[in-house]
Amino acid sequence: MSHERILVTGANGQLGTVLTSALRAKHGPSNVVASDIKASSTSSGPFVMLDILNIQRLTEVIDDFRITHIYHLAAILSANGEWNPIKTWNVNLNAWINILELVREKPVKKIFFPSTIGVFGDTTPKSNTPQHTAIDPVTMYGVSKRAGEMINNYYHHKYKVDIRSIRYPGIIGYQSIPSGGTTDYAVEIFHHAIKEKTYTCFLEAGTTLPMIYIHDAIKATLLLMDAPADRISIRTSYNLSGMSFSPSEIAKEIKKFIPEFEINYQPDFRQQIANSWTKSIDDDRARNDWSWLPDYDLAKMTKDMFENLSK
Ligand code: SER
Repeated sequence: MSHERILVTGANGQLGTVLTSALRAKHGPSNVVASDIKASSTSSGPFVMLDILNIQRLTEVIDDFRITHIYHLAAILSANGEWNPIKTWNVNLNAWINILELVREKPVKKIFFPSTIGVFGDTTPKSNTPQHTAIDPVTMYGVSKRAGEMINNYYHHKYKVDIRSIRYPGIIGYQSIPSGGTTDYAVEIFHHAIKEKTYTCFLEAGTTLPMIYIHDAIKATLLLMDAPADRISIRTSYNLSGMSFSPSEIAKEIKKFIPEFEINYQPDFRQQIANSWTKSIDDDRARNDWSWLPDYDLAKMTKDMFENLSK
């Protein structure tokens, strides 16, 4: 029987939905408390409504459920973040600091913070982006997540909080729909291909971005959180690589399953965000420290997406 009592914030989100299920399968449904600002009708275990900025409620949840591990997934993503930058800073950074301050006082043993390729900016090398490099994000999402990474390092060294973090690429999965991100097109495209045989993409044809299949994103998260503390050499956030592709490359792959599929391009403000990010990631540290290896490339992912979406 697992001794972990886990809290997942943002559990209704694209990653939260699937990570909560994976944690429940591993630790038992009653040991994983899902929370979100919106109600959930499908939760297969304990669920609480939680606005991540409400410290009093957060304290109650941690105490009432005797939480030992937190996966803090609640966040506002890159595109939505630009509509309300100050709210994005509050949700992505201030709420995180509140949690860390609480955790210092409580018997919480380990805590997970998702960062992103969105921390990279115009000064970052575009190919095989190293772990340690120029980082000048252009979105408030990237700014707040980069600040979060530095706070992670600070709280780890100053207060010995066991914080672990990954810079996720764009996540693609069939179980849930992302919202408010720049990489969302790579999920939308499958749904439109199946329903309408056509998709109008908000990024240009050749915009290559780092992406990862949901199964690999979950695998990496569990590997990192299970690794012995002395294997964790990065306390800001780990680079992570799954695959890289552009809208035209994924469209070509989709045509193998739906030959009549057509893609059109109508770039909007998200193009500028994508242009500031990198194309591919060097994740040597994750590979060395906690034996990370992705299982899915573009072809294998596309096949799996169609198999699951057609069910
Ligand atoms: N998927 C995120 C976004 O597009 C990147 O981490 O905002």
